Amino acid sequence: MLRKSPFNRKKILIGVTGGIAAYKIPQLVRILKKEGAEVQVVLTESAKIFVTPQTLAVLSERPALSQFFKSDQGEWNNHVHLGLWADLIIIAPAGANTLAKIAHGICDNLLMSVILSARCPVFVAPAMDLDMWTHPSTQANIETLIERGVTLIDPEEGSLASGLEGKGRMAEPENIAKTLANHLTPAHNYFFGKRVLVTAGGTQEPIDPVRFIGNHSSGKMGFAIAEQLLSLGAEVELVYGSVSVTPPKESNNHQALTAKAMQQTCEQLFPQCDILIMAAAVADYHPTELASEKIKKSDNTLTLTLEKNPDILKTLSASRKPNQVCIGFALETEQEELHAQQKLQKKNLDCIVLNTLKNPQAGFAVDTNEVTLYCRDGQQFHIPANQKNQVAATMLQILGEWLNKPQS
Ligand code: C5P
Repeated sequence: MLRKSPFNRKKILIGVTGGIAAYKIPQLVRILKKEGAEVQVVLTESAKIFVTPQTLAVLSERPALSQFFKSDQGEWNNHVHLGLWADLIIIAPAGANTLAKIAHGICDNLLMSVILSARCPVFVAPAMDLDMWTHPSTQANIETLIERGVTLIDPEEGSLASGLEGKGRMAEPENIAKTLANHLTPAHNYFFGKRVLVTAGGTQEPIDPVRFIGNHSSGKMGFAIAEQLLSLGAEVELVYGSVSVTPPKESNNHQALTAKAMQQTCEQLFPQCDILIMAAAVADYHPTELASEKIKKSDNTLTLTLEKNPDILKTLSASRKPNQVCIGFALETEQEELHAQQKLQKKNLDCIVLNTLKNPQAGFAVDTNEVTLYCRDGQQFHIPANQKNQVAATMLQILGEWLNKPQS
């Protein structure tokens, strides 16, 4: 399934160099695109003899680049940006010339400058004639690259374009894709392939047809968590109330405005989920009576009677199967830690994430947040103020590592 592909939402840069095997690269682009990757192709000039930039641009849905500048418009292809953009670079086919250039840091084309400015893992899938492959210079260059952390996707044996038989054929696109997929599926990624129920935003409890009791929650933190989970290869059921931002496109999105509606939706979804992350600000009470008409202004005071809402998290946690994980959020204005720890116990959670309201850089309306995680085994993790998507990424990394350890 698409969402479970390790390529989903990954940014892959394919460097194509001059060699007959370049004709197989459109197939590699198709495989990666089908698996949900964003693909950027960068070609050397000699690669264009074997495969057209047009074909690669159409299949990758991005211009296939080979020049620093578009000569007619003066637009600059920023190699540093491309090197930083990529989650992974694969050079296929990697000819003897390009392997030698990488080993010696020669930077005479766009692809070389992208490789030299890359911070992500680099893979090479060499393709060349038998004697070029076995030549001591090529072998020494390969050794240098491996020593520096480049991953070699070994050429395969078979008939070569020259008519010779032996090692030198580029690995088939399917095999290149498999190697990349293995790399992108680290064993420690706890969330890969898991189904996660995330709640976000605030609830609205209607008073009459035009008014409600609500709160300031924007949904930004919950949506940032959903985004990060999708990037980690999880399937996300996203239940949200009132929000000021748009939910991710790739999660299964369910809007539920009242606490009761949120409870019903969550109760339906939770049995099929591995993890619950309850980031929604659920109202604790709702008006006992919902007026059928707009309440008219009359006396100086108006009294509303409120009734307690169900505690969704507590109820779901009480019904959970042994392997289901429950994570809650807390927002306190005094005795923060004590109250967070009490909620962790009372709601029988694996972890509670305490939002800090004392820092002006944290809270509802802003794009930044600061949190502390309190885990069932007593461990605590503080995440300093940062952009909400960064906090979400760090939070999931910490939780993933914590959940991967044997639990007592
Ligand atoms: O008890 P308190 O509202 O502070 O607990 C916060 C946590 O409980 C949050 O994870 C929130 O989403 C959840 N909650 C809930 N149902 C409620 C109130 C809060 O699931 N009625």
